[in-house]
Amino acid sequence: MAMKGAYKNTARSEKLVIGSAQFGMRYGIASASGKVRGNEVAAILDLANANGIAAMDTAKTYGNSEEVIGNYLKKRPESSWDIITKISSAEKDIAAQIDDSAEKLTRRPSTLLAHSAKLYLDGWFQKGIADAKDRQIIRKTGVSLYNEDEINRVTRAVPGTDVVQLPMNILDTRLHRRGLLARLRDLGVEIHIRSAFLQGLFYLPDTALQRRFSDAVAPLNKLKSIAAKAGLTLAELSLLWLTSLPEISKVIIGVDSKAQLGAHLETLGKQADSAVFQTALSVRYENENILNPSRWPSIS
Ligand SMILES: NC(=O)c1ccc[n+]([C@@H]2O[C@H](COP(=O)([O-])OP(=O)(O)OC[C@H]3O[C@@H](n4cnc5c(N)ncnc54)[C@H](OP(=O)(O)O)[C@@H]3O)[C@@H](O)[C@H]2O)c1
Repeated sequence: MAMKGAYKNTARSEKLVIGSAQFGMRYGIASASGKVRGNEVAAILDLANANGIAAMDTAKTYGNSEEVIGNYLKKRPESSWDIITKISSAEKDIAAQIDDSAEKLTRRPSTLLAHSAKLYLDGWFQKGIADAKDRQIIRKTGVSLYNEDEINRVTRAVPGTDVVQLPMNILDTRLHRRGLLARLRDLGVEIHIRSAFLQGLFYLPDTALQRRFSDAVAPLNKLKSIAAKAGLTLAELSLLWLTSLPEISKVIIGVDSKAQLGAHLETLGKQADSAVFQTALSVRYENENILNPSRWPSIS
């Protein structure tokens, strides 16, 4: 697998963030390989950093993801990374939780997100992050959200929010079509997008889609044919669309291997003109039970 400079479009790769849920726990719809092993984590992060990707997204709830990242960074003291972490508990002091993450990561995270709107809107959390910013324990703060209602409640209650993380992809274009991205941008909020491949659903074979997500088969087939006419796969169309939107600062991608990341860096060297995106946006799929992975029935 090629290293520095092999992939053409570093400008777009600078928008990418390596998601690390699968570094600390079993994650992803197929997740055939379970947790990503240590040496594969290093291979993924080395390839990423060599091609302009310099940010990681982690959380205290991702198993031992923070420690795994810390072990890697210990061996790469010269490497430059921007680390986003998330907390979900209001039990412990915010500053103590940030210090705990910094210890595990062996570096101080730059950004702290609440893992839910409920925690973020809690007065205790707001006081805690204001104090942490005053003491320069953290640079940016914000929240990871799921939908329009949460965005409205957060922007009303906390106008000074630095960062919001949201789910979006070429099947789930709701927040874009409804102008939420433009509104957040106008409020000066930095937008991070996750679920670029709908947690891996875009890679499932038709048989599995038919069995588990039959309602989405028709819109997915429409999008696959729009992508194919442009010489792209569904996942490639989704990544190119997300990285083309000026409102979006960062796109978080989950990968299980260096090869999977290599494929995305390859994708960024490809082109799709806006007409293809406009055609894809006409699909307008709305089924929350499919678009929100936390609603998926668990497979026994
Ligand atoms: N509430 C939150 O804050 C929240 C929620 C979810 C995720 N996240 C963050 O977002 C990151 C990404 O998670 P996501 O849900 O957004 O996932 P995603 O990026 O939409 O999809 C990732 C999954 O897609 C599959 N995949 C990716 N590249 C592939 C390739 N080249 N070939 C084949 N399959 C490929 C893998 O699935 P398989 O593993 O099934 O093979 C991988 O786990 C997480 O690591 C985490 O950092 C945050």
